[in-house]
Amino acid sequence: MDLFTPVHLGQLELRNRIVMAPMTRCRASQPGNIPSAINAQYYQQRAGAGLILSEGTQVSDLARGYLWTPGIHSKEQVTGWRKVTRAVHAAGGSIACQLWHCGRISHSSLRALGEAPVGPSTKQSTSTCFALDDGGNPGRVLCQQPRALTTLECRGIIQEFADAARHAKRAGFDGVQIHGANGYLFDQFLHSIVNDRRDEYGGSIGNRSRLLVEAAEVAVEVWGRGLVGVRLSPQGSFNDMGNDPTWKQQHLHLAKALGAAGVAYLDLFNQGWAYGAPSWDESFAREMREAFGGATMLSGGLTSEQGTKLISTGVCDMVVFGRVFISNPDLVERFRLGAPLAEANQATFYGGGAEGYTDYPSKFPPKREVRS
Ligand SMILES: Cc1cc2nc3c(=O)[nH]c(=O)nc-3n(C[C@H](O)[C@H](O)[C@H](O)COP(=O)(O)O)c2cc1C
Repeated sequence: MDLFTPVHLGQLELRNRIVMAPMTRCRASQPGNIPSAINAQYYQQRAGAGLILSEGTQVSDLARGYLWTPGIHSKEQVTGWRKVTRAVHAAGGSIACQLWHCGRISHSSLRALGEAPVGPSTKQSTSTCFALDDGGNPGRVLCQQPRALTTLECRGIIQEFADAARHAKRAGFDGVQIHGANGYLFDQFLHSIVNDRRDEYGGSIGNRSRLLVEAAEVAVEVWGRGLVGVRLSPQGSFNDMGNDPTWKQQHLHLAKALGAAGVAYLDLFNQGWAYGAPSWDESFAREMREAFGGATMLSGGLTSEQGTKLISTGVCDMVVFGRVFISNPDLVERFRLGAPLAEANQATFYGGGAEGYTDYPSKFPPKREVRS
């Protein structure tokens, strides 16, 4: 078994085990944060992946933490995403929508009415988001102090994820992935220090997991078992997380609860492998897979050789590749042929147009297959 062995992932039949990582590129059309033809072209170029995970896609205006990221809460956004899903399907690929709420990683300048960000508590992150500075110019700005969500508002967030899951279905996606990683809203709730709530969404490990588990449950109600995934970043430190002494028990508990909720796969991002932060190892990946009882995929600075080994030794079922997919739209064929990989230009990761987005050449385009 290797990266090219087809796999059943829940209800999806995927032609290989190579997953394109969810990657924010800040290129939704304005006004309205709507996907357009250039986004459809970008994803279609990468349709050789067994599964594409879309960039983080906000479920509401308050969920947004960055300028120019696409949403899935307006009619126009659903219509825009339909262009993307059709383009990917026309090239024989599959694509799931990553549903995103940034929580406290946000700024009031992102909203017409200037609402403050929300979070599990009023604890402010020391990290930045991408918004407007005091002069009204786009750039990195310090995240503002959030307002703590009420219990009723937490239930409202679950409703937003149910609505977003329905919208994703109407937009033609092949499933959804809930973004529970990287210091955004669900991760903030999981964290034993950031989350100091005293209601049913705080306190014990079970309570801190509740918001994410309930969001997964409503997404499974909309899509059915086998079409909903969840992304987690155990021991992650992005966005002022980290230093949570309970991270291991927290994530093992969560894996079990998400398995029971009918989630099809866990996507585990090891920030340490990608960026040299503290990291867990393969034995923890195996523990998570066992606790979950379903398929897992791993990411974090992996090469084709490392990915092959992780699959062939049964550590995970699929492997997620990020930055190399930006600069190598034909990544699957390059891996198959052992061809050299092009370097990604970090300066064009976020914002802008075709440069660094749709202009990386495909030297080995995949065979076109048209889905019925
Ligand atoms: C430009 C960029 C944008 C990203 N945006 C997201 C995102 O929207 N959602 C998410 O879960 N992870 C995001 N990530 C993390 C990637 O999905 C991936 O886990 C990370 O890049 C590690 O994989 P790699 O070393 O193969 O690039 C992003 C990474 C990059 C480089």
